[in-house]
Amino acid sequence: MTASLLAAPLTLPCGQRIENRILKSAMSEGLGSAEHGPTAAHARLYARWARGGLGLSITGNIMIDGRALGEPGNVVVQDAQHLDALKDWATAGRGSGTRLWAQLNHPGKQAPRFLNKETVAPSAVGFGPQLSSAFAVPRALEEAEILEIIARFGRTAAVLREAGFDGVQIHGAHGYLVSQFLSPHHNRREDSWGGSLENRARFVHEVYAEIRRQVGPDFPIGIKINSADFQKGGFTEQESAEVIAGLAQEGIDLVEVSGGTYEAPAMTGRAMKESTRAREGYFLSFVKGLRQSVTVPLAVTGGFRTAEGLEAALAEGAADMVGLARTIAVQPDFAAQVLAGQRPVSAIRRLSTGVKALDAVAFLDVTWFEAQLARMGEGKEPLPELSEWRSLGHTLWSQGVQAFRMRRA
Ligand SMILES: Cc1cc2nc3c(=O)[nH]c(=O)nc-3n(C[C@H](O)[C@H](O)[C@H](O)COP(=O)(O)O)c2cc1C
Repeated sequence: MTASLLAAPLTLPCGQRIENRILKSAMSEGLGSAEHGPTAAHARLYARWARGGLGLSITGNIMIDGRALGEPGNVVVQDAQHLDALKDWATAGRGSGTRLWAQLNHPGKQAPRFLNKETVAPSAVGFGPQLSSAFAVPRALEEAEILEIIARFGRTAAVLREAGFDGVQIHGAHGYLVSQFLSPHHNRREDSWGGSLENRARFVHEVYAEIRRQVGPDFPIGIKINSADFQKGGFTEQESAEVIAGLAQEGIDLVEVSGGTYEAPAMTGRAMKESTRAREGYFLSFVKGLRQSVTVPLAVTGGFRTAEGLEAALAEGAADMVGLARTIAVQPDFAAQVLAGQRPVSAIRRLSTGVKALDAVAFLDVTWFEAQLARMGEGKEPLPELSEWRSLGHTLWSQGVQAFRMRRA
């Protein structure tokens, strides 16, 4: 296969056509206003990406409930309050040939103490010693609250459709609320929302059905989902394949495969074996297996660094689309270069201040990239050679010391 397959359009089950096979995976921007609305920086950042040749651009996670925040600077959409700013963002981010989708999230227990009064989850299961200082033991949700959260996913999607976004993606990966429901470790419920896989998957099915009810049959709904949690007692590859098959049957438009949680951050390669990290595409072997049993469009994200790697993910017949995150935080034209037949190589490098103790609290894997997004939000170009120390300075200046309290992708 050549770059021309990456350039081939893709038609989704709902009928939407995506002009090529490269997607920008969600990256939380940290650029929201004090009222958690989008800002002019969002519009400038996504306009920059829309000039970079992407077939599909997916926003950072947008929270569906202002009482449940995942990171500082989150955008929250729970009603039409920010409609005008959302329209500006949507207009700017939809380039010629680039579709713009919004990622919807509820963090569940992965909601840091310093941002939230109380956290909720399927069950009152706390984190281990490494994370328990940053994250409280959650309160188990009442059934009425579960139904209310499902309704919120639908309402948020309807507002985003009205604002002009081309589609939505449910964040079902990385240990947030949807992922917590799927996991037998985090979900210990004994009612119809826990126990068997059918019960644990009820929440994601209901979220999908409610969004579909609110946005109609012709509007794309995708999901980002874990291949596995990479955690003892967590959601497994076999269970993931079953849930994906069920969602495909119900009409989901695009399944983006990732993996891991805050406790086992496989999504950025940190919790992977060295051999897997070294290979491009952390979750590609799972997607290859999945392809045998489903026909729904599949995307795979995590660890792609070269044009050859992107092509190989499609050439092997596994994925229909390939996702990029960190690379296009520093090389926003990467997709355009690949599509033009060039051979760009990702400028992503191992980040370190050189001081181990500082690295442990600096979360450079997130904050260094946020500094790049902030540059594009100001209308500047990203700076691949940005020093780790300067990025720390940027984060301290823009968000204060709070920013370092707990940051994960
Ligand atoms: C700064 C930053 C923020 C992220 N925010 C999100 C997010 O909001 N939603 C999400 O699904 N993934 C998020 N991710 C994970 C990426 O989408 C992607 O899965 C991961 O970085 C692996 O892809 P890559 O190797 O191309 O970077 C984030 C990653 C980074 C670096």
